Amino acid sequence: KAPWIGLIGLGTMGAALALNMAEKGWPVAVHNRTESVTQQFLKTAGPLASKLTGAPTLQALVDALTPPRAIILMVPAGEVVDQQIAALAPLLDPGDLIIDAGNANYLDTERRFHDSRGAGYDFMGIGVSGGEEGARHGPSIMAGGEARQWQRVGPLLRSIAARFQDEPCAALLGPGGAGHFVKMVHNGIEYADMQMIAETYAIMRDGLGLDAPRIADIFAGWNGGPLESYLIEISAEVLRAVDPLTGQPMPDVILDVAGQKGTGRWTAIEAQKLGVAIPVIEAAVAARNISARPEARARGAQTFGALPQRLPPDALPAADLEQALIAGKILCYAQGFEMMTASSTEFGWNLPLPVIAEIWRAGCIIRSAMLNDMAEALRNSPDDDLIFAPFFSAKLIHAEPALRRVVAAAMQAGIAVPALSAGLSWFDAMRTPRGSANLIQAQRDFFGAHGFVRIDGQDVPHGPWGAG
Ligand code: 6PG
Repeated sequence: KAPWIGLIGLGTMGAALALNMAEKGWPVAVHNRTESVTQQFLKTAGPLASKLTGAPTLQALVDALTPPRAIILMVPAGEVVDQQIAALAPLLDPGDLIIDAGNANYLDTERRFHDSRGAGYDFMGIGVSGGEEGARHGPSIMAGGEARQWQRVGPLLRSIAARFQDEPCAALLGPGGAGHFVKMVHNGIEYADMQMIAETYAIMRDGLGLDAPRIADIFAGWNGGPLESYLIEISAEVLRAVDPLTGQPMPDVILDVAGQKGTGRWTAIEAQKLGVAIPVIEAAVAARNISARPEARARGAQTFGALPQRLPPDALPAADLEQALIAGKILCYAQGFEMMTASSTEFGWNLPLPVIAEIWRAGCIIRSAMLNDMAEALRNSPDDDLIFAPFFSAKLIHAEPALRRVVAAAMQAGIAVPALSAGLSWFDAMRTPRGSANLIQAQRDFFGAHGFVRIDGQDVPHGPWGAG
């Protein structure tokens, strides 16, 4: 049977996705700008090659597909996507669909979606999470687009997605850029999850003087409890790995400079635009930026004295660190979900938060046992902030003292814990009925005559500040 699915871009992710589709029984035509890559790919596809058709040119790809076609782009996000669409669009027939499966900025996806209207082709943007392994054997798929397009490609995408208790982790989440928006928030949370794990690692390594294998054991232990997650699991695994050159633990020979491709930064930027506080994610992005300035950090150590200091022995039991991480994680997700609620209001998307939590339960990088509880909590009280869902408020009440002890001890020893402390400060602010913004209102009114509201509800156009 001739394929109706095409895929452009046989890099790591594209190749894995094509093999995944072929394995699930879908014939796929594939194209790569450099033809030798296509040839090589087909050679290594083994028995799956029978489901795959190589196309040396875009025209050959289009010709190999039965209309209405669906062509998945797995090319680097940004301009390359626009170039591909521009080259492909004139070759397509009405009803054909282009699907951008890269890590696009949702604003680009919105624009591309609008440009496709009346241009003779349809467009969808889907967020795909899970790295190469996920793309090959089951990613989490966050789709944006119209229901009629989802009707057509939904069965395909659900068949290749990861499964949680037999439920595919793929869903249409909203129109236009909604899928890529949710993927962006996923990545923001990914940054924060990773940062908070790294902060507990720093406390154990620098504050408690534990070596990598010991920390690996502690993470592995946590993975058997409420923190069970892909990121905790791989943290244990990388801490156990040994450098073949020196015999030292692998993480000990890796430079402490974190890379980033920008999706976490986009989350912080979009949260600011929406006026939503996501300080845990913002702190995680900032921490990567600070990590990227090793010379300045070395100079800081010289000028101000090197940190961190060792904590007193037995200052913090590992159980405290585990509880701190549980609390930090709940706080971070609460912020991420709040951001998605705000985007729904702002863009009229009506993002299905329980479904999002559900399709994050398997396949994606942030998959964790806790997401199952979150899905349930959001189903039971879809309009409530996550911290007020009874299951999670109970967890927070239980974990808060440990989070406070951990942040206080880290601060005392000079161990930077920007994400955990940002979570705690947010939590503290969220339970302070009378904050300090009254003073800010007075200051604003003093220098700008902005007015304020009195505690008795009365609007005051200007305060009694003398000549000010
Ligand atoms: C995923 C990941 C994936 C990729 C990010 C990492 O969900 O599979 O998020 O998309 O790993 O690009 O981003 P950084 O390079 O910015 O850390």
